[in-house]
Amino acid sequence: MSTLGTRKTILITGAAGFVGSSMADRQLDAGHIVHGIDNMITGSKSNIQRLQRRANFHFDEIDINDASALLRVQRAHYDEIYHFACPTGVPNIRTYGEEMMRTCSTGTENVLRIARQLDATFLYTSSAEMYGDPDVFPQIESYNGNVDPVGARSSYEEGKRFGETLVRLYNEKYNVKAKIVRIFNSYGPNMSKSDTRLIPNTFGNIKADKSIVIYGDGNQTRTHLYITDLLTGLETVMAKGDCASPYNVGGNKQLTINQLVSALGGVLGRKIPVEYREHYIEDHRGREPDISKVMELGWQITTDLASGLAEMCREYGIATGARVNEKQPLSKGRATWSNGALHGSQTEGEPSFG
Ligand SMILES: NC(=O)c1ccc[n+]([C@@H]2O[C@H](COP(=O)([O-])OP(=O)(O)OC[C@H]3O[C@@H](n4cnc5c(N)ncnc54)[C@H](O)[C@@H]3O)[C@@H](O)[C@H]2O)c1
Repeated sequence: MSTLGTRKTILITGAAGFVGSSMADRQLDAGHIVHGIDNMITGSKSNIQRLQRRANFHFDEIDINDASALLRVQRAHYDEIYHFACPTGVPNIRTYGEEMMRTCSTGTENVLRIARQLDATFLYTSSAEMYGDPDVFPQIESYNGNVDPVGARSSYEEGKRFGETLVRLYNEKYNVKAKIVRIFNSYGPNMSKSDTRLIPNTFGNIKADKSIVIYGDGNQTRTHLYITDLLTGLETVMAKGDCASPYNVGGNKQLTINQLVSALGGVLGRKIPVEYREHYIEDHRGREPDISKVMELGWQITTDLASGLAEMCREYGIATGARVNEKQPLSKGRATWSNGALHGSQTEGEPSFG
């Protein structure tokens, strides 16, 4: 708990979501005061119920696109603003494309105005999706991406790109201390159970004893970052990052979806049934961040995939076949691949894949 002198007041938009609620917990743990706002479009009530049991958490259910509602609930002072609000989930692009674009544009500008007025340090969560279907690997921040402005995923991709442009504008024109993080696929507890993204969807199906559905052939690659490492990355950029200069934060190991499923099978100690279906939307072949820029600020990955997946099994109440010591903190080691199998680093208390 910080002393009163260092206690911050922090605004978190998208506080009912996966990352927003986890960041709220992290800041409350550090003794800060958190004001969360959310319109519940993809957020989860249980996250807010959990946070509302904690001292120093205040919540308002409002839409950040509504400037007058924001003004009504705005506090007199914020030290920092973590701006997470945005509808997420690839299948939601069809349903919520308009809401995604509006929240990334109008909503982001409304929140930037608060940062300007209150001289708060602001952090915008952009996405790896701003690179589109990349033809450069790994994606370095200076790579401008490969986005089709009228493509099926463009509401989200172009929305995030426009949000970044607003951040640069507010920094250059109004001197707002505004930072940008491009988040690559992240996972962990507190993802909504109705979340359509790969990891919660997969765990939900395993829990319900259903096959995992893979869209496409499963050879598309992604990296996967555990939530605690993501939060540290966001805090690092908030504290030390340059303004209006994007930082990739993501995992350092590309896996195909098929490899991810077999890694999960390793954690569960059984083969997971898979059903392949034609993709419902154009998919990106791969994604891999160059994380050297954020590492120069002192950030590093501390949780390996094996430990993160075991933690997800605990969250979903799914028995693991691997030995997992509940009392041990998450591993500080790295997962490695050899002969097509995943091995956690074999230190005491970590899941074993042997
Ligand atoms: N989790 C990831 O792997 C990942 C990857 C890339 C980018 N991001 C970005 O990080 C941020 C947080 O992602 P997440 O995984 O927590 O998603 P999430 O869907 O769990 O949380 C987003 C929250 O924003 C809220 N929201 C949406 N529009 C709003 C509006 N107009 N007003 C108020 N609240 C609104 C939603 O209800 C939800 O609670 C998002 O901006 C997302 O684009 C996340």
